[in-house]
Amino acid sequence: MESKIIKKTTAEDGLSRVDGRLKVTGKAKYSAEYKVAGVTYGVMVGSIVTKGVIKTIDTKPAEKAPGVLTVITYLNAPAIPGYQTDKPQQKGSLKIFYDNKIYFNGQPIALVIADTFERALFAASLVKATYDTEAFQTNLKSNLNNAFAPRKDYLRGQADAYKSAPVKVEEEYIIPTEVHNPMELHAIIARWDADDKVTVWDKTQGIKSTQRSIAQAFKLPPDNVQVTAPFVGGAFGAALRTWPHEIAAVLAAKVVKRPVKLVLGRPDMFTSVGYRPYTWQKIGIGATADGKLVGITHEATGQTSAYEDFTEGVVNISQLLYACPNVDTKYKLVSLNVNTPTPMRGPGEATGAFALESALDELSYLLNIDPIELRMRNYAETDPDNGKPYSSKFLGDAYKLGADRIGWSERAQKPGSVTKDGWLAGYGMGGGLFGAHRSNATVKAIITADGNMVLQTAVTDIGPGTGTAMVSIASETTGIPANKIRFDLGDSSLPPSPTQGGSAIVSTVGSAVHDACNELIGKFKLLPGYTAGTNIDYAQLLKQNNLQQLDVTTASKGGEEQGKYSMYSWSVHFIKVLVNPATGVVKIDKAVSVADSGKIISPKTAASQIKGGSIMGIGMALMEEAVIDHRYGRLVNNNFADYHVPVQADIPQVEALFVNKADQVINPIGAKGMGEIATIGVAAAVTNAIYNATGKRIRELPVTPDKLI
Ligand code: MOS
Repeated sequence: MESKIIKKTTAEDGLSRVDGRLKVTGKAKYSAEYKVAGVTYGVMVGSIVTKGVIKTIDTKPAEKAPGVLTVITYLNAPAIPGYQTDKPQQKGSLKIFYDNKIYFNGQPIALVIADTFERALFAASLVKATYDTEAFQTNLKSNLNNAFAPRKDYLRGQADAYKSAPVKVEEEYIIPTEVHNPMELHAIIARWDADDKVTVWDKTQGIKSTQRSIAQAFKLPPDNVQVTAPFVGGAFGAALRTWPHEIAAVLAAKVVKRPVKLVLGRPDMFTSVGYRPYTWQKIGIGATADGKLVGITHEATGQTSAYEDFTEGVVNISQLLYACPNVDTKYKLVSLNVNTPTPMRGPGEATGAFALESALDELSYLLNIDPIELRMRNYAETDPDNGKPYSSKFLGDAYKLGADRIGWSERAQKPGSVTKDGWLAGYGMGGGLFGAHRSNATVKAIITADGNMVLQTAVTDIGPGTGTAMVSIASETTGIPANKIRFDLGDSSLPPSPTQGGSAIVSTVGSAVHDACNELIGKFKLLPGYTAGTNIDYAQLLKQNNLQQLDVTTASKGGEEQGKYSMYSWSVHFIKVLVNPATGVVKIDKAVSVADSGKIISPKTAASQIKGGSIMGIGMALMEEAVIDHRYGRLVNNNFADYHVPVQADIPQVEALFVNKADQVINPIGAKGMGEIATIGVAAAVTNAIYNATGKRIRELPVTPDKLI
């Protein structure tokens, strides 16, 4: 019997994840899961002091423990050829086992290698060091006076113009340190295949960048470094660069002349692979009585480590999001005794958007103008920084879609005026933008005698569903059914692709897949027997011509006309909260996120991407905070029991909506990015909703219940 249920076509239709079955059946192998003959196990030992020098380090008991092959410290570590040994540890990535200096609590001081993980873990507990300690600083708030400017200040029009505006807001905002905490721990297995040849199974967002970094560190030809990572269990920026533990594992494998597996423990994930830095911000924003922006002044100071400057675009959003004649921004850093931060989903912009979109909300109440209406009155039709036209911008459509879906018309402008079953109800919105990019990628496309297609490139998939999107593009371009197309990735021997980051992979690699498919179709069209105007029967044409396969390797890059346009993806997030007036508990009642990311290539995985980003934003607003006890400079919640992230019970059904209009400029497939905008603006949408519900404006995240009672 035929089903009577007619399913409406929604954004969630489309191809299911091409690797979904592998993932849910456990057949997808992650870095630590490869069986490598003769493998040994590494466990790191971290410094228990926050600043100073190692005075003594006793590795003897550990070396004598059962199964231990070696204990590597700065005293016995072979020199890493790529480290500049004529200089002390200075500005730059942390040189592991380099000297006796300690820059942060948890800094690796030893690596124990044993024949089992348990034996390595036990032996690691026997390594004892003594230190000469020095005074340290881990508190950004109390060190704002020590900030320095790593970049030039920005000025458009007049500085501090907001001060003379008829209506103005001037407030400070703080986001704490947030840690990516992907499900998959960072892990590497390193095996030397010859004196000058190494293979790594490594958790990374960048196959080719990891190949280059390891080659550089060990002075090898890049082709002598084989990197494998076909599956990555989440990363969010934490695997964008090659970290010291990866170098340490490769080094250790050389020392013990056996493969070494090194899996970071969850606490190490807080000190070894970066985080979103604690950032203080101040915004001054002024408008005319009818809501035209007069000026924005945005200052931000973020934390970095004592050995490396990490910068991100925190204040850029104030230069770019709204049409405003006068904008001045300042960005500063404070060097603290912490490990180096790294990009975390929506890097910079997510931090900046919390301040800017909060300030705009505050302004809307002072002006008594609806927050969406206020944004529309300052809608940027062209890039406010350089005057260029946008390659595409449908943010206005996104506002309408989202407002409709959340039920914005139910919102009361007066805070605290709507209740539901004794809870205070409130609505909030916030949005943002992130640069849309297309870089270079090379794809090999093969069609074989059975009519199947294989696509190959050295990209990774950290979770968004890259393979699914690529198969969708190839199927649409060639007419070959999706189940006959395979996408090979995550292997450095494949043609080059960029690192998966900055929301650019569908645009970049998707375009390369599209170009390769078209080039391959062109080859088929030249075969004798091809009839124009019909669907190509690839298998038949190959058979007719006695060919086993046809293939192309296509290098693809963006056109020069891109420089004439400003290219961004846009998002707006709507949140409805319920706040318990007695306990301060915040429940997310409804969440709607709308993206203008050009044409949607893979609706199901795109929706999943937006939902994940929204959930991260909700975590940022309500829960996430890595806490350092500044008396000791040590993290106190470096585990999943104490560092809270949203779980199912915290999150309602998040609705992901798309404007779904192709960008005609950025690339031939019309798609822009969406990974970053999925999170940018969410935290402000939550705190704005909390204000609408309660009349309490919380400017320091996360909004824990104690801040609301
Ligand atoms: Mo993203 S923060 O570029 O992984």
